[in-house]
Amino acid sequence: MRQKIVAGNWKMNYNFAEGVQFMTEMKSLLNKRNSYNAKIIIIPPFIHLTDFVRNFGGSFMTFGAQNLYEQEKGAFTGEISAAMIRSVGADYVLVGHSERRQYFAETNSQLAVKVRLALKNNICPIYCCGETLLQRNDYILFDIIKEQLEVGLFSLSGEEFQKIMIAYEPVWAIGTGVVATPVQAQEMHAYIRGLISKKYGNDIAVQTSILYGGSVKSSNAAELFKLPDVDGGLVGGASLNAVEFCDIIIAC
Ligand code: PGA
Repeated sequence: MRQKIVAGNWKMNYNFAEGVQFMTEMKSLLNKRNSYNAKIIIIPPFIHLTDFVRNFGGSFMTFGAQNLYEQEKGAFTGEISAAMIRSVGADYVLVGHSERRQYFAETNSQLAVKVRLALKNNICPIYCCGETLLQRNDYILFDIIKEQLEVGLFSLSGEEFQKIMIAYEPVWAIGTGVVATPVQAQEMHAYIRGLISKKYGNDIAVQTSILYGGSVKSSNAAELFKLPDVDGGLVGGASLNAVEFCDIIIAC
């Protein structure tokens, strides 16, 4: 179901004590604010999840993992399965973040397997897509996004597709301080919704949550989040500062 969401992707930051301190600070900041509408998803390193879900979880404060492995179980030293993520109470998992695609050579077809495993284990995959600056400058940005969605997601049935979320994260905007303009963000989000509509029909397309990610800050969040096809944000750097992150949540 489409909803306003602010997700914080901590990447490989904060040890356990630092993470608990952050969560405590954020909880007290949010308690002081009178209202916010967004659902919050904190996506910390795997090893924090068990404790965070137990001590900070609630209907508006949910948790996700940053990755999962593409096999159900077995001799894959160092990997984490969908069932393990589910077993600690995390409800979401990032699939295909551009850093996974870039540094770990994850392909669209591998990601399709991960999406299926997440769904099989009752976890909502947040499927990340986005073009590089080179691809944008070469005007192949729409082809790239189309391929990422077609191969990674479009083998799902309509019923399965309704259980996923998408994050559009232009690679050139991630961690660079260069945010997509409202025109660029809306253009791509509308394009993505259009592709979903063509494949699954309008009813499903209008119910799909599509988050924007890439240098979201409290100073640009409100402008992005009010765009008709932007349903919230996937926030990296700015999710590591409790005050800043809370301001982004309030902006949604
Ligand atoms: P950023 O990262 O907000 O630091 O640009 C976003 C992301 O990688 O999800």
